[in-house]
Amino acid sequence: MSQVTSNVVKLAPAAAREGLASSAKVLIEGRGVSKIYRTKEGDVETLKPLDFQIREGEFVSVVGPSGCGKSTLMKMVAGLLPISGGDLLLSGRSVKGPQIDVGIVFQNALLLPWRRVLDNILLQAEIRRLPMAAARKRAAELIAMAGLQGFEDKYPWQLSGGMQQRVSILRALLHDPSVLLMDEPFGALDAMTRERMNLELQRIWMTAGKTVLLITHSIPEAIFLSDRVLVMSERPGSIAAEYAIDLPRPRPLDVMGTEKFAAYARTLRAHFFAQGNLDAH
Ligand SMILES: Nc1ncnc2c1ncn2[C@@H]1O[C@H](COP(=O)(O)OP(=O)(O)OP(=O)(O)O)[C@@H](O)[C@H]1O
Ligand SMILES: [Mg+2]
Repeated sequence: MSQVTSNVVKLAPAAAREGLASSAKVLIEGRGVSKIYRTKEGDVETLKPLDFQIREGEFVSVVGPSGCGKSTLMKMVAGLLPISGGDLLLSGRSVKGPQIDVGIVFQNALLLPWRRVLDNILLQAEIRRLPMAAARKRAAELIAMAGLQGFEDKYPWQLSGGMQQRVSILRALLHDPSVLLMDEPFGALDAMTRERMNLELQRIWMTAGKTVLLITHSIPEAIFLSDRVLVMSERPGSIAAEYAIDLPRPRPLDVMGTEKFAAYARTLRAHFFAQGNLDAH
């Protein structure tokens, strides 16, 4: 059942994972958070005041038309970009400057071509000046988890695109952040690798207990992975709707063939048709 409050359609929050729905504490919170880019050509109103909450352990995706401010929102949560208004809180504290407890995966793997796989992962520890012995131990564990043993000494260009993307995810996990921010991490992958990475990400999220904010252009990917999907409107972006995805975990790829999955996809697509803006995926 949906109820309409202002321009936000809220579905009753389904208990997507037992005990999670409303009992977990709020980890990321936007209170009227807005963004205006000030440029030489004038102000660019990018995000209208947004209100949202992401709970500890939740997997939340953001979908929306190109240019609506998704990357802007993610960079602000990461503390890489200042907000223009309102308040943005991480663990109850206002985000001011880059956050320690956050791992970021950018759209392209962004690996350093002259560094081997292990050294690309360890870059995270070097930048953060973490003790290297512990970082090496954790890197080895992560490499095993992601099935990349034997590739530690390879250079990125010796890996497939999917493997490179896994390395960039491991780099984001090295310092064991409680929050993982991912901006279209699988956009450059072929469809089959992308599905494998979706399964892998679900596994990492379920075993490592992270809170994930994923930006994606793919409606099926958002539904498959998320507890909740936030749909943004065109720039200046606002949250047009949010949907709780009530599908049991772990989700096999087959779930995409179910009627319930198709119904979610239809509902989400309807927003983009309404905005005259549907992505190809
Ligand atoms: N540094 C900047 N200065 C001025 N305007 C900017 C800047 N960065 C982004 N913008 C504008 O803000 C809007 C939102 O950009 P953003 O990158 O957040 O969009 P997005 O939703 O991530 O888009 P996409 O899906 O294409 O990645 C765009 O219209 C863009 O032109
Ligand atoms: Mg973007």
